[in-house]
Amino acid sequence: MATEELQAKVNETLASIANAKDEKALRTVLSQSISAKGWINDFLKKIRELPKEERKDFGQAVNEAKKTLQRAYDERLGKMDKLAVSDKEYLDLTLSGAVPTFGRFHPTTQALRRICEIFVAMGFEVVDGPEIEDEYHNFDALNISSDHPARDDMDTFFIHGDIILRTHTSPVQIRTMERLEKGENILIRVISPGVTYRRDRPDRTHTPVFSQVEGLMIGRSITFSHMAGVLQSFAREFFGPDINLRLRPDFFPFVEPGAEAAVTCPICGGSGCPTCKKTGWVEIMGCGMVHPEVLDKQGIPSDKYQGFAFGMGVERITQMLFQVEDSRWFFENDYRFLRQF
Ligand code: DAH
Repeated sequence: MATEELQAKVNETLASIANAKDEKALRTVLSQSISAKGWINDFLKKIRELPKEERKDFGQAVNEAKKTLQRAYDERLGKMDKLAVSDKEYLDLTLSGAVPTFGRFHPTTQALRRICEIFVAMGFEVVDGPEIEDEYHNFDALNISSDHPARDDMDTFFIHGDIILRTHTSPVQIRTMERLEKGENILIRVISPGVTYRRDRPDRTHTPVFSQVEGLMIGRSITFSHMAGVLQSFAREFFGPDINLRLRPDFFPFVEPGAEAAVTCPICGGSGCPTCKKTGWVEIMGCGMVHPEVLDKQGIPSDKYQGFAFGMGVERITQMLFQVEDSRWFFENDYRFLRQF
């Protein structure tokens, strides 16, 4: 009788163990069955009430029941552990690691930094100017009056009134001269990298946003030869020792004489290729001796001081440095393009 009752209780508990949804439910089953407070104790107590000859067998049956339930409990718990772990926490230490991707500078930034390094090594200081400019600094102070045809070459984004997006970095020349404490022995050696804007239709060599580096050197006896020397040194440092610089007359209202500087085509070495349009040369900047009127207007007497200025297009140079066909790619932020640099 007691044995049947015990068996029924065991079966019932085995079913509860099998059905326990989680570890907590399983522990409850355990504490209600074979723990010190569980029903198993009732059966242990019953042993004494039985006739002597039945006691031994029944005692063994109760112990057996306890062992069976403990095994079932352990087995179920083991399965539960695996389930829980494989569900979310399982960490396979044998898997190969994920290679982290490293950040890098945009190719234009890389070229800009290199340009700055080279000029800084020659004693130039890097200065900054605003991208939102006024017409005075962008044009008038640079001898580009409102009826000057040079304004047509720089199709301008107007913000309001005479406030515009600068069309070149040359206004930083003016801002540098304005800032200068005018005493004896004026010496300016600055470069100014930055973004510029023109209402150009994008194509392989034009984008409405582009970067320039402006340079300005003014002192008591700075000559055209100094300019040629500085620019030649720059070109060789930047593109390589076999590069030559060619200066040809050009016109910019704020310099006199003005020149266009070209370098030996870094792609073909001067023998002629599509990049240099078979000429062996590529233009990289405008330059010249700062116009006396520009100096005088800023309170730098042109009978005492002179100097040179230059302005280069950074995307152009970067295109040549990294052999990039289309300058629009610099602005599309396509990771497949950018991660190559
Ligand atoms: N600002 C001119 C441009 O964007 C480039 C330039 C030419 C800058 C001659 C200069 C210079 O400083 O001397 O086309």
